[in-house]
Amino acid sequence: MTFKKNILCIGAGYVGGPTMAMIAHKCPHYKVTVVDINPTRIAEWNSDDLPIYEPGLDNIVKSTRGKNLFFSTEIEHGIKEAEIIFVSVNTPVKTFGAGAGMAADLQYWEKTARQILKCSESSKIIVEKSTFPVRTAFAMERILSLTENDIHFDVLSNPEFLAEGTAIKDLEYPDRVLIGSRETPSCVKARDELIEIYSNWVPKDRIITSNIWSSELSKLVANAFLAQRISSINSFTAFCEKSEADINEVARAIGMDSRLGNKFLNSSVGWGGSCFKKDILNLVYLCRHYGLDEVANYWEAVVSINEYQKERFALTILSAMFNTLAGKKICLFGFAFKANTGDTRESPAIFIAKKLIEEKAELVITDPRALNNAKIDLNGIDGKISYIEDPYEASDGCDAIAVMTEWEIYKNLDFEKIYQSMVKPAFIFDGRNILNHKRLFDIGFNVFPIGKPPLTHF
Ligand code: UDX
Ligand code: UDX
Repeated sequence: MTFKKNILCIGAGYVGGPTMAMIAHKCPHYKVTVVDINPTRIAEWNSDDLPIYEPGLDNIVKSTRGKNLFFSTEIEHGIKEAEIIFVSVNTPVKTFGAGAGMAADLQYWEKTARQILKCSESSKIIVEKSTFPVRTAFAMERILSLTENDIHFDVLSNPEFLAEGTAIKDLEYPDRVLIGSRETPSCVKARDELIEIYSNWVPKDRIITSNIWSSELSKLVANAFLAQRISSINSFTAFCEKSEADINEVARAIGMDSRLGNKFLNSSVGWGGSCFKKDILNLVYLCRHYGLDEVANYWEAVVSINEYQKERFALTILSAMFNTLAGKKICLFGFAFKANTGDTRESPAIFIAKKLIEEKAELVITDPRALNNAKIDLNGIDGKISYIEDPYEASDGCDAIAVMTEWEIYKNLDFEKIYQSMVKPAFIFDGRNILNHKRLFDIGFNVFPIGKPPLTHF
């Protein structure tokens, strides 16, 4: 079969995999190939057991794979064949040299740009899908302009705004698709080609264009605003716990103001995920680079409050349990950074688990999807940790439960049965405020929600 377009994506991760699956699903007339340097990951994408869990992803991949969606390690061949290349490799925080701990490590995208340059035999459109620091496209253009023949590359910025756990819905019905480009005739033509791809399923008024630097910056700003909102509500949980106000009541009251809106006001043990911390620190680094120290300090505080929130949660457990956790068994309900994903990158559960182990507690970890990643995250840690998928079995014989992830299944457990099987006095620390606290208290638990007065029997 001949296809109207050949699309390539370099990087088969949480962003590249689902995004390309959606393009293939919506555009049967395009051939979509996803390549990666990691052969294990590609083998998993080609198996029945996909490397990431995302509701709805399995069906889409199964219906397109082998027809117009292909996963491969043949990067060079993929580059030669493609007219449009999405770059979706990771841009982790730099761990060495200048900007260590804050700046983005750009070695992977630069290697990718050089590989595109080396292997290309025809002109191509290059789409920045990964979140990059502002003005990365400029550097990419510079590298790609080092051609010795007539080949020409147009670089576009098209950041991905999907959230994990709802990736398929976010891709199918995006709030907006943002495409940044230069205003040269060739870039405008390239931009139109990308608009044409999305127009296969996204309404025209949701596809917006901007200059390329605004597009790169918008992605960092969106994540900074989202994280700021959670840090803001979380900062008031500390206040509520001191003043006997109830954070849920406060969130409801402010969320009904249409200027504020009611989304992203769920207080928690802290936000996690691969993007927020990395992107904000990257923004902070860029601000300092431009001499904007006040702006940098403002956004850095969003991260500091999150660290404080995680620290505070661990201290609440310690002080509630009579200031000693040594030898006590604590069950973590959930390890993923949010519900409906197996991803544990920057999950607050990692921090809490390490803190509890430092206090010599014994841990039992339960999660419907994230146990494999939890084992990797806690590998080599000196302490007693077990991993049990069934929450009843996991909490059996424990002194306390700490809810780390807002999985739906935890809301409907038989807590009478769980209480009977636990050591008394039994504690619940609800790091997501998802349980019925009054009912748990009536059963006999000592309950410590976030941002509300605790309910204790002593
Ligand atoms: C990553 C970044 O974290 C995010 O900022 C960006 O917006 C998109 O890329 P994610 O898809 O979640 O997000 O990352 P990850 O799951 O780590 O996937 C990246 C993939 O790129 C990995 O499979 C890795 O093997 C691959 N890769 C990396 C390459 O194929 N080539 C490289 O040179 C480097
Ligand atoms: C985020 C952005 O939402 C997305 O647009 C971007 O493309 C990538 O980064 P993601 O990290 O996948 O997506 O998930 P998100 O739903 O934003 O949650 C991030 C963290 O905040 C999670 O730990 C979540 O549990 C927490 N959170 C979210 C809260 O604590 N309270 C809330 O009200 C919402």
